[in-house]
Amino acid sequence: MIKFDYKDLLQFLSVKEIESYLPALQEAEKQLVNKTGPGSEFLGWMDLPVNYDREEFARMQICAERIGKQSEVLVVVGIGGSYLGAKAALDFLQDPLTQLKAAGEHKGPHVLFAGTQLSGRYLQSMLDFLQDRDFSINVISKSGTTTEPAIAFRFLRALMEKKYGKQEAAKRIYATTDKTKGALRSLADQEGYETFVVPDNVGGRFSVLTPVGLLPIAAAGYDVEAMLQGAAAMRERSSLPFGENPAQQYAAVRNALYNQNYLLELFVSYEQRLASIAEWWKQLYGESEGKGEQGLFPASVNFTADLHSLGQYIQDGKRHLFETVVQIETPDVDPIISADPQNLDGLNYLAGKGMDFVNKQACKGTIEAHLEGGVPNMQIQIDKANEYSLGELFYFFERACGLSAYVLGVNPFDQPGVEAYKKNMFRLLGKPA
Ligand code: PA5
Repeated sequence: MIKFDYKDLLQFLSVKEIESYLPALQEAEKQLVNKTGPGSEFLGWMDLPVNYDREEFARMQICAERIGKQSEVLVVVGIGGSYLGAKAALDFLQDPLTQLKAAGEHKGPHVLFAGTQLSGRYLQSMLDFLQDRDFSINVISKSGTTTEPAIAFRFLRALMEKKYGKQEAAKRIYATTDKTKGALRSLADQEGYETFVVPDNVGGRFSVLTPVGLLPIAAAGYDVEAMLQGAAAMRERSSLPFGENPAQQYAAVRNALYNQNYLLELFVSYEQRLASIAEWWKQLYGESEGKGEQGLFPASVNFTADLHSLGQYIQDGKRHLFETVVQIETPDVDPIISADPQNLDGLNYLAGKGMDFVNKQACKGTIEAHLEGGVPNMQIQIDKANEYSLGELFYFFERACGLSAYVLGVNPFDQPGVEAYKKNMFRLLGKPA
């Protein structure tokens, strides 16, 4: 079970101050549950762990298995909320060297991501790599019109049709998009691709528990039912009173810190496997709260690597940041440091100790140092890294985000600012009106 611990914040915030957010939180909770707040047409994610299309879920599992049999590589094409959840999940669950391992040495096909940016170099490298490999495509776009994935898909589809012929290619392309509208829906229907639906009432960054996230995760061989169970357990906890409700606590303290002029939240991890979860989290909070000249800036660091780069700033730079440390209690593996008769590296004092012990002491020591340096700190503990805890974590952050944004006074479910760059880009590209 995920635990949330904010006792170290009490050096920076009084209990009274935190509790002063309770009325606003209760109001935000009501707005979410009764669907009365801004953006209430996008609250479908709240019930996804228990309320989803079972027929589609079963079909998705069949397709996931077929992808695994059909292909050495699955290319997921999507951007923003249409890929960050799957990427976060896979980097959390997979062996860190999965991409270097041959088929049979790891679960499922290799999963690569395309359409996440506009680099021709990256795209060309992927096209060259796929020439001699069996691959499938899961193209994901809720609107069905986003430029980056649309361009990547055009290239990938052309390669696939050349390689397998149009008919066989159609059996290897899976489209996740709107039920009825958008260019991708029309193309998929015309070409006869297997399709999955992004529900109307679920926005991109809240869509990881729909086929947007679940199909690639299942295709890579992971248990998406366990993910939904973990999310369902967190959903239950999210209606408990404040003292037992981690989502409400997190929403309250980050608003309290923001109003004390701590303007930047650092997602801190001590395991590389959490780095892509931080990327997903940044989108979730950045796009949901950063509007109307308001909102915490969500950033991330991966320790201990970044202690040797950004550590100086965090310890000693401008005092406008706080840390949310995400930790894993029980490691999957724990290599033990051996004794060395010569001890030339001076490490024998650690002989017999596991890497997890060393990592945890680094974490404790860093938290102490940062607290002394004036950096407020709170912690999220994951008991074990598996599908269930991942489901808990995703739902925890989503629920807290909805609450936190309502307490802040913004609509968490729109993203008007994202249009500005598109408008200019389309003008410069000469896109017809
Ligand atoms: O959260 C969001 O809504 C966005 O980040 C979208 O997910 C992203 O822009 C991709 O949009 P689409 O799925 O329509 O291609």
